Amino acid sequence: MAARIWLCWLPCGLAKIGWPLGWPTSLEFLSKGSDAEFFEFVNPLADMTELSYTATWGTYYKPSAQNQSVEGWRRMWPEANPVEGGMRALTFVQERSGRGVVVFRGTDLDSSGTSGQADACANAELAHAPLPGYCNQFTSFQLDYVSRALDIARKAAEVHPTVEWLYTGHSLGAELANVVGAVRGAAVLGFAAPAVLPVLRDRTAVDPHQLPFWKSLSLYNELDPLRFQALGQLPGANCSWVNQPDVPSCDVCELHGKIDEGSPECKQCFYKTHILKSYLALLRSGQRPVCPDAELGDYLVV
Ligand SMILES: *[C@@H]1O[C@H](CO)[C@@H](O)[C@H](O)[C@H]1NC(C)=O
Ligand SMILES: *[C@@H]1O[C@H](CO)[C@@H](O)[C@H](O)[C@H]1NC(C)=O
Repeated sequence: MAARIWLCWLPCGLAKIGWPLGWPTSLEFLSKGSDAEFFEFVNPLADMTELSYTATWGTYYKPSAQNQSVEGWRRMWPEANPVEGGMRALTFVQERSGRGVVVFRGTDLDSSGTSGQADACANAELAHAPLPGYCNQFTSFQLDYVSRALDIARKAAEVHPTVEWLYTGHSLGAELANVVGAVRGAAVLGFAAPAVLPVLRDRTAVDPHQLPFWKSLSLYNELDPLRFQALGQLPGANCSWVNQPDVPSCDVCELHGKIDEGSPECKQCFYKTHILKSYLALLRSGQRPVCPDAELGDYLVV
């Protein structure tokens, strides 16, 4: 690792960062560029996404991650991590490249604690579903994750005015990242995003057709039931890891088009393919996701 950084110090460093400072205006290179470009770009965002789970209060919290950062990046204020439950987000800045990232945490699936209960209530509100009884412990301010996500993105931009932003996250976190990116005209890299367009329609004045296609990219395990739920409901491009080992519960879950989240097969498929751990394993496998051609809607195998 150190050797690579040393060898690359000047030429590669400059090439990677480019000029002017900030993020690339298009993420199309993640589809068409080299494997090295893909992993160099995506891996740190995946590490930040992992920290959004392990460095914030909830079921996945690890004390050792509390102040941890990602190589080449500084964790900075602002963060959203209310002890009493609510939207969780971390901020990372890389001064030399003029880049900043706000990462939004996905759902804490254990609803026996405050963190998971707040997430379940926020998800129910987003889906216009009935709220579980335990939701009266929270205010509507706390459960309005979209507004809280927009708040922290605005605050981060105020605190670090010279930085250009990219928003990332997994699952619910990817959904929030997409909404914030669409509102703020910034790049988004989301892991396993659920349907985004309904939230954009409900909660923002953004016209999704006006958004540049390659400004937002969603990555999926091709078997992830959320990919099926999100079909045609994303504001930008998507790529999927294909040729995954067969998961029988997913075959059953995805057989009839509409996903029944409550079915045992879909639950099992979800645990095998949707959770962040399975995405981190895909990235570590060194395999590259393939991106369907925008016009043909089919996978372009390169
Ligand atoms: C993280 O930083 C805070 C504030 O400086 C400190 O109180 C806490 O002990 C640190 N946690 C760890 C695990 O080092
Ligand atoms: C991925 O992109 C293709 C081509 O644009 C599109 O047909 C498909 O619906 C997208 N997938 C999702 C999950 O939106």
